[in-house]
Amino acid sequence: MDETLAFWALGGAAFAATLPRLIRRLELSRAKHPSLTGHSRMAKRVASWLPGYAYGEERFFNSDGAPAEVAAQRRQALQQLGSTLVARCPRTLDLTASARDGLPDLQFTGAYRVPFQYSPLLRQHVQVGAFMEASEGVTLTDLDGNSYYDLTGSYGVNVFGVDVYRQCIAEGSARAQALGPVLGSLHPSVAANVARLQRISGLDQVSFHMSGTEAVMQAVRLARYHTGRRHLVRFCGAYHGWWEDVQPGPGNPLPPRETYTLRDMHENSLQVLRKRRDIACVLVNPLQALHPNKAAPGDSSLVDSSRSAGYDRAAYTEWLQQLREVCTERGIVLIFDEVFLGFRLAPGGAQEYFGVKADMVTYGKTLGGGLPVGVVCGKRELMKRYREDRPADLCFARGTFNSHPYVMGAMAAFLDYLETPEAQLMYVELDATQNRRAAQLNQRLQAIGAPVQVANMSSVWTVSYTRPSRYNWMLQFYLREQGLALSWVGTGRLIFSLNYTEADFEEVCRRFVAACQAMEAGGWWWQDAAQTNKSIKRGIFREMLAHRRG
Ligand SMILES: Cc1ncc(COP(=O)(O)O)c(C=O)c1O
Repeated sequence: MDETLAFWALGGAAFAATLPRLIRRLELSRAKHPSLTGHSRMAKRVASWLPGYAYGEERFFNSDGAPAEVAAQRRQALQQLGSTLVARCPRTLDLTASARDGLPDLQFTGAYRVPFQYSPLLRQHVQVGAFMEASEGVTLTDLDGNSYYDLTGSYGVNVFGVDVYRQCIAEGSARAQALGPVLGSLHPSVAANVARLQRISGLDQVSFHMSGTEAVMQAVRLARYHTGRRHLVRFCGAYHGWWEDVQPGPGNPLPPRETYTLRDMHENSLQVLRKRRDIACVLVNPLQALHPNKAAPGDSSLVDSSRSAGYDRAAYTEWLQQLREVCTERGIVLIFDEVFLGFRLAPGGAQEYFGVKADMVTYGKTLGGGLPVGVVCGKRELMKRYREDRPADLCFARGTFNSHPYVMGAMAAFLDYLETPEAQLMYVELDATQNRRAAQLNQRLQAIGAPVQVANMSSVWTVSYTRPSRYNWMLQFYLREQGLALSWVGTGRLIFSLNYTEADFEEVCRRFVAACQAMEAGGWWWQDAAQTNKSIKRGIFREMLAHRRG
């Protein structure tokens, strides 16, 4: 009897001891977004389960059950589109084909432009050149002299128009010329840049790195060093570079380490921040305001029309304010990752635009004036890399090319430009202009009955589709045919530089509408009345199961 009692007493004590941990674990689970994107381990498991297969000649054209005449219409449209593109760009395509074998990056982007089932056959019919020869204003020119409106925005680097960056690089090189590519000793531009960035960020200190990914790594590392805590919080879907701790899902061969991926704009996440003691920092990429909790909308996952987006500035501002409050309360370092959006929304970046101050801010992309860079700005107490009382306890961060004189020169020229009336003018009524243009395009698309709408966060736009279809990803190639250049992720992300005039935009609009009309004429938007996004997904799942079973 005594032994039984002792057993239950011990069991009870063990349960009582683990209960708080269980509760915290449960709170963490409740703060995850109920999607695969919110569950990185599960997403990785699903990714490893997905069978590789590709559609053949027939299934490619009727994967949605389209009747024979529609499939034939699509086949003919694809052949025509393919031959137009080939005839137009022989040199560009030749070089692309010959470079492909030695460039895994090109193989990757080529394969992942569209959902994988369609990719091999599509590439036989439609080729997209990877090379450009020249740029000017808002256009790019390929090796065959074809001109395209640039909607790639150079991955976000190009805020003010490519000519500004060309000028920044020229000026920066001229400033750095006397010292040349000497590393270790600093060029005087470094001091000027630090002073400018202190003013812009409102933060005490600045460190220079070679890419946005590195800047994020260093900000998180410093937060861990100074708080003595291990975990970082990122929000579901947010991109912060390709370092493994900030990219815990598919795409990264290692499992996540000390990363919590929480639900964006949700009270349960605030609860976790309020209660846990192991969180060093919260990383925020304000671009997520356009599609909270969703990953960057690439066309490779555009298997149906369920992609959606919408930007609510007031709601996102409130969310940032709540984050600010809880981070202050809990001693958690709030990091704004402005690598993408810094200087795109406002001259003072997202902090100024949303009126919320961070403890650290990372910048990159455009700040290098066209050259590669990553920057961390932070509070004095967070930026320090050593301790007087424990001299061997360091937070080491060096890099051969940090503060490269030419990059620092181009950055100084960029920051000079930022203060010019010309640059300041570009921010005047910026959101209103972009919103008006988006509404204008949406009206035009509606008027022709195209199942396409755009949403935007200032100059960053995304395309969504309003009728269930399996072929929306084809639109990127019709846009290309119309002379609109997108990045390899396709219609999920259009980035306008701020030097687009009304006339430029009008021309983009006209071409966009024409591309939609060609898409319609090709039969790609044919729709069985019974088809829904759910039924499409279900069908694809069944197909995958069948392939799994061999
Ligand atoms: C918000 C954000 N953080 C970090 C990065 C990584 O920057 P980089 O590509 O320069 O390493 C990116 C790149 O797109 C980004 O958008």
